[in-house]
Amino acid sequence: MDFVKDVYTLNDGSTLPMIGYGTYNEEFADNVKPIREAIDAGYRFFDTASLYETERCLGQAIRESGLPREDFIIETKLWIDEMGAEGAKKALEKSLKRLGTDYVDIYMMHWPRETGELDEAWKEKDLETWRVMEEAVREGKVKRLGLSNFLPHHLNNILENCEIKPVVDQLEFHPGYSQEAAVRFCQDNGVQPIAWSPLGRGRENAIIGNAILGKLAEKYGKSIQQVNLRFALQKGVLPIPKATSREHILANLDVFDFELMQDELWTLSCMPQNTWLGEHPDFKIPTKRSNPENI
Ligand SMILES: NC(=O)c1ccc[n+]([C@@H]2O[C@H](COP(=O)([O-])OP(=O)(O)OC[C@H]3O[C@@H](n4cnc5c(N)ncnc54)[C@H](OP(=O)(O)O)[C@@H]3O)[C@@H](O)[C@H]2O)c1
Repeated sequence: MDFVKDVYTLNDGSTLPMIGYGTYNEEFADNVKPIREAIDAGYRFFDTASLYETERCLGQAIRESGLPREDFIIETKLWIDEMGAEGAKKALEKSLKRLGTDYVDIYMMHWPRETGELDEAWKEKDLETWRVMEEAVREGKVKRLGLSNFLPHHLNNILENCEIKPVVDQLEFHPGYSQEAAVRFCQDNGVQPIAWSPLGRGRENAIIGNAILGKLAEKYGKSIQQVNLRFALQKGVLPIPKATSREHILANLDVFDFELMQDELWTLSCMPQNTWLGEHPDFKIPTKRSNPENI
């Protein structure tokens, strides 16, 4: 199946560019320069989250660009310490304020479970949170809803109970951790998968220095990172690389003049699952912020 087109069409008929821009994390604290450069380079789809503390910076960069707000697609997320009816309402208001905008294009639940306990309490908490997010769509504060790190069983809970369907699910995705079952479940259910850490954060040995990736990069006259992005695109997964250097910002858009062969896609899909962030939605839940009120 040829996934590489001009845009991704979502289940509500709206579209997303083929590549977005990730804003996690420190480099952006008080530094709008990389995001301004990304805007100049042509990126219009930006990923942030209340956790990243980059919403202010993104909002400022967009305003400084002088381009109309409607030209941009802003995606942000509520964190695990903002779940539940009250938490989710407050979280959105804070995100809107930090971004300096009166609507978010895609509002996401960042993580499906607050704890790694083997009970099912998370299911109701997710739904409680989702209902607030749906209300925000009706109020016009959010255009579309999305999920992040939702594996098939988490996503299914939403799909079976929602009034407004999620348009996207953001998953860690790169050679060495391509979560084929989760990606397939999204695609089978009309939910667009988005690849976070599409470059595997350039980890030594697993990504940089990986012999297979190195050979493919040499064969196509591209960098290993560009091969990674092409892998995501040809698997129908929308990559949101983070890049702060101008060279990287531009290079990550220069991936439409080569095509990996089917055998190469299988090779990359079947690489040892040896490089990932190490946080798992069912087993290793990230720590909560010490003081969420401060952000
Ligand atoms: N939903 C979630 O739970 C979740 C979790 C993690 C991340 N994310 C999102 O996904 C985005 C991307 O993931 P990530 O930030 O973890 O890592 P990533 O995009 O996989 O890798 C970023 C690293 O790659 C480097 N790089 C970028 N382009 C390059 C190129 N063309 N050549 C060589 N090096 C290059 C960057 O360097 P420079 O900065 O020096 O250019 C940076 O060190 C995040 O920013 C965030 O928006 C979401």
